[in-house]
Amino acid sequence: MRIDILTVVPELLTSPLNESILRRAQEKGLAEIVVHNIRDWAEGRHRQVDDYPFGGEAGMVLKPEPVFRCIQELKSQREYDEVIYTSPDGVRYDQREANRLSTLGNIIILCGHYKGLDHRIREHLVTREISIGDYVLTGGELAAAVIADSVVRIIPGAIGDEASALTDSFQDGLLAPPVYTRPAEFNGWKVPDVLLSGNFAEIEKWREEQALERTRLLRPDLLGET
Ligand code: ADE
Repeated sequence: MRIDILTVVPELLTSPLNESILRRAQEKGLAEIVVHNIRDWAEGRHRQVDDYPFGGEAGMVLKPEPVFRCIQELKSQREYDEVIYTSPDGVRYDQREANRLSTLGNIIILCGHYKGLDHRIREHLVTREISIGDYVLTGGELAAAVIADSVVRIIPGAIGDEASALTDSFQDGLLAPPVYTRPAEFNGWKVPDVLLSGNFAEIEKWREEQALERTRLLRPDLLGET
């Protein structure tokens, strides 16, 4: 899949999108993530991307022209399934939405700007507004990185151990069970016996019980038990 991210602060996105699993997924050709600086589509000597809001409020608003020009150019090159805008006003992001987005071909993520963007962009270009939580960030770049990361890592082949993306917390609506590694005893604290038993049916049963127990304890809302 291809993810085009439009921002006025591209520097914020270079490191989170180019390390570890995301870097390898791109090297393997599973995903292509392209970051665009909206300023490259701005005109005039100062390449101005934002301006004072009509009506005299404080703060600067992202201008429509550079964003329209950038998205039009991208759309002339390929079809896009969604044009996402990251904003605290959007629908709350979750694993279900990450799964849905990971099945799409091409998406655009337009990063929010601190005082917002000209509303005509939202009315005429954006197809989905996404919030990563009920708090306000200085801009939408970190939210775009969260979305890109959560979507790319579940593309089949992105994680070496294919099964591990499926056993993530939330993939089955439950939190993940605890995991342990060597040594089997550390500081007198022992790994649960069942994990050392070699009995895979018992281990699987234990994992399911633990997942359910932890979800009931920590996130009863996921079970509809609030
Ligand atoms: N931009 C600012 N705050 C945000 C949030 N909570 N989610 C997505 N984009 C944002």
